[in-house]
Amino acid sequence: MAVPFVQDWDLIQTLGEGAYGEVRLLVNRQTGEAVAVKVIDTSQGKECSENVKKEICINKVLSHPNIVRFFGHRREGPTVYLFLEYCSGGELFDRIEPDLGMPEREAHRFFQQLIAAVEYLHSVGITHRDIKPENILLDDKDNLKLSDFGLATMFRHRGRERRLNRLCGTLPYVAPELLSKLEFSAQPADVWACGIVLTAMLAGELPWDQPSESCQEYSDWLQKKTYLSPWKKVTHTPSVRHTPLCLLSKLLRALPEERLSISELKTDPWFSQTLTSSSSHNKLLCSDTQLHRNNSDRVQFSSSQPDPALGVCVWEGSVCVGGADQVSFSQPARPDNMLLGSQLLGTPGASQTPWQRLVRRMTRFFTTLDSSASCSALRDTCIDLGHTFKHTCTNQVTVSTLDRRNNKLIFKVHLMELDQRVLLDFRLSKGDGLEFKRLFLKIKQKLSDIISTQKIPLPVT
Ligand code: ADE
Repeated sequence: MAVPFVQDWDLIQTLGEGAYGEVRLLVNRQTGEAVAVKVIDTSQGKECSENVKKEICINKVLSHPNIVRFFGHRREGPTVYLFLEYCSGGELFDRIEPDLGMPEREAHRFFQQLIAAVEYLHSVGITHRDIKPENILLDDKDNLKLSDFGLATMFRHRGRERRLNRLCGTLPYVAPELLSKLEFSAQPADVWACGIVLTAMLAGELPWDQPSESCQEYSDWLQKKTYLSPWKKVTHTPSVRHTPLCLLSKLLRALPEERLSISELKTDPWFSQTLTSSSSHNKLLCSDTQLHRNNSDRVQFSSSQPDPALGVCVWEGSVCVGGADQVSFSQPARPDNMLLGSQLLGTPGASQTPWQRLVRRMTRFFTTLDSSASCSALRDTCIDLGHTFKHTCTNQVTVSTLDRRNNKLIFKVHLMELDQRVLLDFRLSKGDGLEFKRLFLKIKQKLSDIISTQKIPLPVT
């Protein structure tokens, strides 16, 4: 689908898809600048266009290093385009290894940046209401950027705070009071979601489907059964106060008035310790290191929520390709005139290389077979695993299944021929992202005989 006013920008890749529409990567032919454009179709009704207005309004207010920058918007009939900072590091979600999480040092750094973003947001009277790893992006330096203000709202205006009553967000991340009370305060609910994100980063799984006492895992948490997963995977040296589990026990308090506020959280010993380089894969303190474990699923009811599903696109000869750790452009963005519309508030410098422009994603690999043999191998594996496998178009298949908790999981696999090899690119369409990644790894392992390990040479930039 052509974007009418971006003749001088190449559409390089679709970055994300969701109920609202999609997010695409545009690169300026002349300057090489990269921006993300969120394309929203408001033809579904008045409510939708009101929501977009609100999203634009909120975006305009925001300015913080840990919040995705908003450059401006443009309307073309029922379609609204939001121009956003492009985050080439991809979703935080992709840094979480199913069942393992990530090194504690990295989680600590990301969590500090997340809290900086949320503290700022609250200081200007706005609550995000859908904080989760899929809405947290990373830039080329692995700086965290909170994104997607489609469900955000104002909870304080001219110093007067209002309580909220709308149940929105994503069930595994919502605070218990949203399910049990008619009205609740905005800030503790965002803090709760941050606690769930921290758990996911440290343990590679979400603790429960939803925080209601009918949910066994939640009731185990209330009973302090931290010898169970995911808690047993989180550092909790007895007698040491500066452990993340100790912090989580204060963030995931059932009563919002007992939950840490952000200013209290900032004095927590684990949170406030200064740590150097995040690149180390060592655990930070002595710990009962990471164990294995099974997981949970979730039901989403966030309408604005991007299913973090996507498709790599080829557009006007600019092809972008990528393996988990290898990327190249078949052609560089062409130099030409640049114009993106007068409402653009200014874009970042063209400091990124094509390599950096691609979103880092883990759910793809190259095979050693041709397209049709790769597809047959994938089909056989999926059928062996009991999944439903369907060709959706020439180079794309859709796989449907149920995850470990019987929740629906649907993903697409795009097959692309690149440099005489075939890339299988897996994108989640519906369901829990961690379950999707778990399944991806299972399929990848079963296909290990046909996976190519040869690296693509990087283009000279
Ligand atoms: N996916 C959704 N929004 C994005 C952005 N701004 N940058 C990179 N990927 C994205």
